[in-house]
Amino acid sequence: MKPEIYKVREQYEKYPYPEPALLAYPSRSLSCHAAYEVGAALTTGKLASHAGKRIALIGCGTQEPLIMAKLHPKAHVTAIDVSKKSLRQAKLSTQLWFCDNIEFVHNDLESFAIENEGRFDYVHCYGVVHHLPSPQRGISAVAQLLSRDGFARLMVYAESSRRRINGIKRVAKMLGLSAADPESPFLIQRMIESLPENHPLRITFSMHTERHSTAGLVDAFLHACENPLTLSQLVESVGENSCFIHDWDLSLRSIEMINDAPGDNLYEKIKWLELSTQWPGHWVFWMSKLRHPINANRLAINPAFRLRPFRTSHTSGILRQKIEFDPEIKKLLHQLQSGPIPLEKAHALVDSKRLSLLTAARLVLEVGP
Ligand SMILES: C[S@@+](CC[C@H](N)C(=O)[O-])C[C@H]1O[C@@H](n2cnc3c(N)ncnc32)[C@H](O)[C@@H]1O
Repeated sequence: MKPEIYKVREQYEKYPYPEPALLAYPSRSLSCHAAYEVGAALTTGKLASHAGKRIALIGCGTQEPLIMAKLHPKAHVTAIDVSKKSLRQAKLSTQLWFCDNIEFVHNDLESFAIENEGRFDYVHCYGVVHHLPSPQRGISAVAQLLSRDGFARLMVYAESSRRRINGIKRVAKMLGLSAADPESPFLIQRMIESLPENHPLRITFSMHTERHSTAGLVDAFLHACENPLTLSQLVESVGENSCFIHDWDLSLRSIEMINDAPGDNLYEKIKWLELSTQWPGHWVFWMSKLRHPINANRLAINPAFRLRPFRTSHTSGILRQKIEFDPEIKKLLHQLQSGPIPLEKAHALVDSKRLSLLTAARLVLEVGP
């Protein structure tokens, strides 16, 4: 393990993330947008099953392993983390729910990538690379793990979306609060909540879901290492690894904002929102080494079926999320039996042009309404 990683590891040994919720059981319908099938549709333009695929979860934390192992029962999943405590917690939850398709590895991303070059069909790396001293090296390591037609889904902090949080972080630093001190998470909470109700830092804090748990407070406001990226830095870094961004996982709010933003293409519109500090989220995207024939303007694909980005931080959050179905699709779902659509049926629906490829890919994994 590289020496720079030690501080981060120490933090997650103390505060495994998300705060463990042992009896939580993931909902397929609320996590299926992170499925292999969806990634294959987006990056190769084809419907493909996860059966027999090798999937890596990098910086898996405590809950992602159960969610992803249940979502891909016929794949072999490898979950990696620098925190032994997070791995122990994750292992326990997968054992509790009888997952036998997952193994756990205690390692850091870069060392693991050197040992496992080209071995994975799908790499999921959510909320991790911005906690490396160099997120760009993290993106390279993810690319290194991919097989020739493999793909990855990543979430990287957007620099513009962290600016307000940075105000809170700066105050915490000035007061000497840190992840190493057990009192700090509570002190920061008390300090912010003692501010007037309309104080910008208090408003920022009150809107942040991480304020509800100690691990969340540490992760969001007292992190030992945080290096968010601008859109240009992200795109450049993906390109330097001969990879392409094939799609973004956008919230309905981002889609609305993109629709209203000036610019000739998706990149320009997102860039405009970023520069005017209106971009509402982080960078959640699918990348692979394959160029593909599908139009890069992904917004053409059924925005009504997009889900909010994959969130594992609060199990209640997963359960609370609601999928907005397009009424046409809702009707179709009612016509189908209440189980997920078999791959052949999805193919037929795409051929008959009744469903977009992406929607079909999602429905393969989707449990009926
Ligand atoms: C913010 S948490 C995200 C957990 C999980 N991906 C999720 O979304 O719920 C970051 C996780 O990455 C792990 N991590 C941090 N740096 C890492 C590295 N260099 N290699 C592997 N794991 C790392 C941490 O231990 C922690 O569990």
